[in-house]
Amino acid sequence: MPPNFRATTPDDAADLLRLWRDTWTATYGSSLGQSALSAMLKDLEHNGTASMLPGSGERGYCIASDHEIDGSAIFAERDGVAYLWGMYVHPSQQRRGLGSRLLHGVAGEIETAEKVEVRVLVSSPAAINFYRKHGFTETGREKTELINSVETATLVMCTSVENLKTTQQ
Ligand SMILES: CC(C)(COP(=O)(O)OP(=O)(O)OC[C@H]1O[C@@H](n2cnc3c(N)ncnc32)[C@H](O)[C@@H]1OP(=O)(O)O)[C@@H](O)C(=O)NCCC(=O)NCCS
Repeated sequence: MPPNFRATTPDDAADLLRLWRDTWTATYGSSLGQSALSAMLKDLEHNGTASMLPGSGERGYCIASDHEIDGSAIFAERDGVAYLWGMYVHPSQQRRGLGSRLLHGVAGEIETAEKVEVRVLVSSPAAINFYRKHGFTETGREKTELINSVETATLVMCTSVENLKTTQQ
């Protein structure tokens, strides 16, 4: 079976942790440094999926085959804005269109928000390029706390839900 877009369930916890551990290790060691990466992995080990899904109205989705989860996305709608985070595609599966499928899948699940907002590490040119490719534009810059004691510079990037829905392949 080809990988499908679907909502995550509690049974996905171990697979999500593996996805995030592998993707963070491949991405954040070089962009944030080893000590920040170690703190993030420790937090993930300690808090499990709650470190990414704190349980306040957020909705988790994934791209998954029968035996593994290849990508994840999380969003929460508040006051007309869908805040998106946790967009990760496993390093072994990147650049095959899965991130784009996740983004368009999320757009299809948004109920009331008119725009989508994401915070992207200034030090992640690949992710910035990915969102630009999907019509996101930069609306600001701010420091974002990834976890306790790990802060980093981020770009705030936005697009309309309509844009994502109309550009869906
Ligand atoms: C960013 C990410 C989610 C993209 O997922 P993906 O499945 O690799 O993306 P896609 O294959 O759908 O790529 C779509 C387009 O985005 C751009 N893009 C994606 N990865 C890129 C890269 N490494 N370098 C430059 N452009 C890139 C390209 O324009 C690409 O189209 P193309 O392959 O036809 O040139 C994934 O690379 C990832 O998980 N990165 C590490 C974690 C991260 O930074 N997440 C974002 C948190 S906000």
